[in-house]
Amino acid sequence: MKIAVVGAGYAGLTLSCLAEKGNEINFIDIDEDKVEKINRGISPIYEPGLDEIISKHAGNRIKAYSNYTIAKECDVIFICVHTPSKLDGSIDLSYVFEASKEVAKAIKNSMKYNVIAIKSTVIPGTTLTLKPIIEEYSKKKVGENLGLCMNPEFLREGSAVKDFLNPDKIVIGYLDDGSKDAMLELFNWIDPKVPRILTDPNTAEMIKYAQNAALACRISFINEIANICEKFNVDVKEVAKAIGLDPRIGPHFLNAGIGFGGSCLGKDLRALIRAAEQKGYEANLLKKVLELNEIQPFRIVELLKEHFGSIENRTFALLGLAFKGDTDDVRDSPAIKIALELKNQGVKVKVYDPKAMDNAKKILKDSVQYCKSIDECLKGSEACIIATDWKDFKEFDFSKYKIPIFDGRRILDPEKTKIQGIEYKGIGWKWNTKIQN
Ligand code: UDX
Repeated sequence: MKIAVVGAGYAGLTLSCLAEKGNEINFIDIDEDKVEKINRGISPIYEPGLDEIISKHAGNRIKAYSNYTIAKECDVIFICVHTPSKLDGSIDLSYVFEASKEVAKAIKNSMKYNVIAIKSTVIPGTTLTLKPIIEEYSKKKVGENLGLCMNPEFLREGSAVKDFLNPDKIVIGYLDDGSKDAMLELFNWIDPKVPRILTDPNTAEMIKYAQNAALACRISFINEIANICEKFNVDVKEVAKAIGLDPRIGPHFLNAGIGFGGSCLGKDLRALIRAAEQKGYEANLLKKVLELNEIQPFRIVELLKEHFGSIENRTFALLGLAFKGDTDDVRDSPAIKIALELKNQGVKVKVYDPKAMDNAKKILKDSVQYCKSIDECLKGSEACIIATDWKDFKEFDFSKYKIPIFDGRRILDPEKTKIQGIEYKGIGWKWNTKIQN
């Protein structure tokens, strides 16, 4: 099929995978730099596997444009532009409206049954609100010569390609059979056992929010349990492993740490809270989940203070700046919050991240010392803080540096650090003497 993708961000770029399935993908983005990169076969973001796919198909099955003309020829046009938070936490839908209008103008009076699929995360009701606008600008009618549906994405940064190729479900919230059939055909390479959830656009939009809210709840839940575990000299990892055996709970997303970050969970939670509020409902649980997550990064600062007393004028190594491993993304990263807080408290902060240094520099500017390696970061530091679950940190031999480690992601084995003679403390774990009665 001939596909257009408006917005070459994470969700949009991951649609490159459809080129592997024989489709032609045409990116449309106002950022000339991104357009040029894609056409040269380079992924504008770091995401494992994406560069290979884009470089393999660039100039052939993958092309990029800075105008919308190509949309007219396309069977399916995905809207993947971002939906940032406004200052009050509500969702800014202006990019989705703008992109939809531009697509509608580009397909005006086309003979093709163009299907517009909204992939951006939008609050329930958005796709339905877009319908009359798209119809007006395209001079086409949904169900007659135009398709409109909502097709949310559930991929995780760092494993976006893998997630896209192996989804646990396909959600299609459709208004017309034409768009439903086109989407089913586009995803027909996915194992037939994977559920296809065929529903209305409002439900599809809500599924996306409910899923992210559930994930955020789970993380704040286990972080709260971790904070309580510390008070009782109990290891939260052991607790999480045990409760995860109950099929009603399950083992995933129960890693306690310094909280969730990234471009989605916090933003979507805020948007859902505000959207509910606008309908007269106060989402108390979700508000608390967010509140707990705001303060969780500072647990590490508390632990440092418990250990050192005053932390002013001390030098600490902060390993990790990305909001999680395998990405260069620092949006809403708990690691960045820790760096800024330590700086505020008069600490000399040395930082290292395998991929996110450039992005972090845009926020942290000259407030920290940037290091080129883990070793450079640890040398001369009085403590090490692990803030991102990079494999490089997990596999690093810390035994050369006998400085205390504060593991914000619980990636090291406390027993091993004990043998190595390293003081170790993690979220939900006391010093490496486990029982201190
Ligand atoms: C998330 C959703 O998982 C995905 O389905 C949606 O499409 C986009 O938002 P992503 O933001 O890429 O994906 O990251 P995710 O892997 O969900 O992690 C989010 C944050 O939670 C990270 O900061 C991560 O470190 C943290 N996390 C995750 C925990 O603290 N504990 C866990 O058990 C899992």
